[in-house]
Amino acid sequence: MNERERQLIASVQQRIEKMRNQVQRDPYRLHYHLMPPVGLLNDPNGFVQFHGEFHIFYQWNPFETTHGAKFWGHYVSADFVAWKEQPIALAPAEDYERNGCYSGSAVEHLGKLYLFYTGNVKKGTKRETYQCLAVSEDGIHFEKKGPVIDLPEGFTAHFRDPKVWKRGNTWYMVIGAQDKQEQGCVVMYSSADLYNWKYEKILVGSMRNGLGEFGYMWECPDLFSINGEEVLIFSPQGIEPKGTYYQNVFQSGYVLGNLDYEQLQFEHGAFAELDRGFDFYAPQTTEDNQGRRILVAWMGITDEQEQLQPTIKNGWVHALTIPREIQLRGNKIYQQPVQELKKLRGHEVAYAGITINHETKTFAGISGAALELVIDNMETHEVEEFSITCRNHVEIVYRKEQHHLTLRRRTFDNQKWEERVCAIDNLRKLQIFLDVSSIEIFVNDGEEVFTARFFPDPKIRRLFLRIREVFLLIYKNGLCKQ
Ligand code: FRU
Repeated sequence: MNERERQLIASVQQRIEKMRNQVQRDPYRLHYHLMPPVGLLNDPNGFVQFHGEFHIFYQWNPFETTHGAKFWGHYVSADFVAWKEQPIALAPAEDYERNGCYSGSAVEHLGKLYLFYTGNVKKGTKRETYQCLAVSEDGIHFEKKGPVIDLPEGFTAHFRDPKVWKRGNTWYMVIGAQDKQEQGCVVMYSSADLYNWKYEKILVGSMRNGLGEFGYMWECPDLFSINGEEVLIFSPQGIEPKGTYYQNVFQSGYVLGNLDYEQLQFEHGAFAELDRGFDFYAPQTTEDNQGRRILVAWMGITDEQEQLQPTIKNGWVHALTIPREIQLRGNKIYQQPVQELKKLRGHEVAYAGITINHETKTFAGISGAALELVIDNMETHEVEEFSITCRNHVEIVYRKEQHHLTLRRRTFDNQKWEERVCAIDNLRKLQIFLDVSSIEIFVNDGEEVFTARFFPDPKIRRLFLRIREVFLLIYKNGLCKQ
């Protein structure tokens, strides 16, 4: 560790100490989501299972609640429920990363943990980018090896977010990029030893492989196989809204197809969004030792509301989503909360076959700061229409006739309502994870997901339901402080 790194880490410690009480007292602190101890969090990074434990790193500006020279913060868990904060993994101390250790990934190799990340350098209006490596024996302390890839010909300096995996004896890497025509794309590299990387090609991109015009920059790619097919997840920027699609300022989604590893040809289908709004970006996946593919995303986005979040006055902003297991059914990705989250369940309240007959009702026992709601059997009961209002700031509305599920929320400044609409043919089930200032809605076992932050009056914990003949199961998330 050099002197600059020591100083940076010491000033982060001071900042955490100074702000600790204020941050902890913030009424919008979440109960079972990962948050920064202070400052701004964005993308999940380096998500990996290492010696049995799950490591998740995150983009972190500890000094401000705006974006800046990012560190890698670090949490470890054996079960996705109890997380332990770790020392800073990467601090932007070297010349090649002076303006941030930007996003990247982790792989295990021969008992060591390898982190790949982007060294971001800004010189006036000019940007430099380096794909860098850091290695660890214990998964906690990292030794920087410096840049392993420089910017190749044909791309602007928007070239970042390496994601690495192994197939056979070869390591592969995808990087999010912008070509010289300012089209977003994903670039592929290969390596035999994790240190020496060969540029292969542009694998997929805007104006390529039949995608048409598809954005000026693609961030945070992730490529993996599932049921014998390949999924490429990425976060394109510059896509216009279309009907009920692409309503967030930036998107995150995937294309599905077959990657021919001999020719490195990827035949794929259309882009599909992973989330229907409002706060979801830069997802990253890992495969665990049971063969599950697990996804975590930033439960936020850099839009015009980002800086209106009320937590900012208490020195922190943003969180990660809950971990979700993803599965391929047909040609669609389904997301479901990892089953470990059942451990969060505390007190259970069940109402079977309730009828409210079009009036609004609150239920004894189902108000609280952290809840999981399961509304099941909607099909059997032929639910035509219903709504749930959470803490006066979020509303979920379903109308069978229109085949629509709508999520409405109050804007962060409380001035207006805004909504996201998603076509749902047959609503069977809703599983809703409510935390103090977030909601994650899994529709029909993860066919569609809505992820959003919201900032209600902290004194209001109640839910209002307008619903007919459904089965409702509610768990107060018991492991969390209420
Ligand atoms: C996505 C992103 C990445 C970049 C990181 C910087 O949110 O812009 O492309 O590496 O955030 O924090």
